[in-house]
Amino acid sequence: MSQVGHKGPARSGARQTLNYRLMASLQKNIVILISGTGSNMVAIARAAQKQAWQQKWGVRVAAVISNNAAAGGLTLAKDLGLATEVVPHKSFESREAFDAALMARIEPHAPALVVLAGFMRILTPGFVQHYAGRLINIHPSLLPAFTGLNTHQRAIDAGCRVAGTTVHQVTSELDQGDILAQAVVPVLPGDSADTLAARVLTQEHIIYPQAVRDFFERGV
Ligand code: GRF
Repeated sequence: MSQVGHKGPARSGARQTLNYRLMASLQKNIVILISGTGSNMVAIARAAQKQAWQQKWGVRVAAVISNNAAAGGLTLAKDLGLATEVVPHKSFESREAFDAALMARIEPHAPALVVLAGFMRILTPGFVQHYAGRLINIHPSLLPAFTGLNTHQRAIDAGCRVAGTTVHQVTSELDQGDILAQAVVPVLPGDSADTLAARVLTQEHIIYPQAVRDFFERGV
């Protein structure tokens, strides 16, 4: 009896995995993770729509997931007709528990690519390992310079003449994965962190959709 009880869920789990795999072979799903404004998510979703990624390559944004129910990007995603989900990190006692819950929401989409777009949580090695090679981030500096936070103020304080942004693979070391794309902007006299951030952001909206497109075109 206990054996039957054991086999049932195992079989349905295997069937579910097969369903996910079948889905992945037909459709290349992108899952985007956000925490805030979501302007990079919007840039990617708009590029997908305008450039007909679904029709050309079977690539679509399947879901936008936020750890923050108040993220403005959730409304923007809904306005674009995208499916949204919230996994509030504060409901979990550990990073591991949060990441497990997040994965449970991501996996049904069988993502070909998971895109971090202003997702302000450090992910556990287990999560990063699971999505290795299909997990990318955009960081607002010219990596390897200025990993971590407050990148714009730090670039100004260091007297940099240029700043920029980097799209990179995510590995378990913060902001250290292979660089996929970069854009450079000038640091102008009188710049504040906000004016520099705004200049960088306009470039992010160009290079992030392009890097996602490259991922599917070239299998970067
Ligand atoms: C961007 O500057 C990105 O580089 C950083 O967080 C910001 C997110 O902006 N990781 P948005 O939420 O995409 O508008």
